[in-house]
Amino acid sequence: RDRHRPRALGRDDYFSGRRVLVTAGPTQEPIDPVRYVGNRSSGRMGYAIAQAAWRRGADVTLVTGPSTLDHPWGVDVVPVETAQEMFDAVADLVGSADVAVFAAAVSDFRPSDVREKKVKRSEEGDTLSVDFQANPDVARDTRGARKQGSVTVGFALETHDMLEHAQRKLESKGFDLLVANDATEEGAGFGVSTNRVTILGVGHDPEVLPLLSKDEVAERLLDRVSGSTAPEAGGS
Ligand code: CTP
Repeated sequence: RDRHRPRALGRDDYFSGRRVLVTAGPTQEPIDPVRYVGNRSSGRMGYAIAQAAWRRGADVTLVTGPSTLDHPWGVDVVPVETAQEMFDAVADLVGSADVAVFAAAVSDFRPSDVREKKVKRSEEGDTLSVDFQANPDVARDTRGARKQGSVTVGFALETHDMLEHAQRKLESKGFDLLVANDATEEGAGFGVSTNRVTILGVGHDPEVLPLLSKDEVAERLLDRVSGSTAPEAGGS
């Protein structure tokens, strides 16, 4: 659909010519040459943001874990598999990004030792233990490399105490905006094309959005980034 839509029509003064970096999708952390530990992220939210930013005239790079989605039209795509690879790609790119959106569902842990050969059932007992070690935090640990004056957006997928956890992530990872969603709500989170999100911003009351398509959530988020619909500080 976007291929037939001239982007000139969608140009937006804020995004036109700006560099936007988006992370999206899951990461896959290998256990052995044929197996990995992953998560249920489809990449849809991040891909929608990348496409919407391109439509508004931005120069967009999408660093994406494995996803079955078509590449967004007009966007530079950097495919990665592991959290470490995503970290390396973002560390290279974040210094030139005017807007950085961290929508990826990054595995917080990876198997400590990747087995060189396939784990054989016949050589294991009734249980298999895999030790994990922490991965880098792509958003937090590249904070020092961000471009001065850039706007950063994080995501938080929670199953309980959403606002409290989201507020903590906004602060601890140094985001300007944070998109929070509750994975237990119908129509929100992984594997669906809709989302019900609350946008938190430094100095603003949380903005609760209705159930929307992920494309619409992307547009509302970019409106917030460009400040055009930012609610008044302390307002409702
Ligand atoms: N994130 C990241 N690298 C990680 C983990 C998270 O860049 N290793 C980013 C995500 O892209 C998202 C934000 O940090 O923008 C919050 O991710 P989330 O998984 O909700 O938070 P965690 O820090 O993993 O916290 P927790 O597991 O305690 O919920």
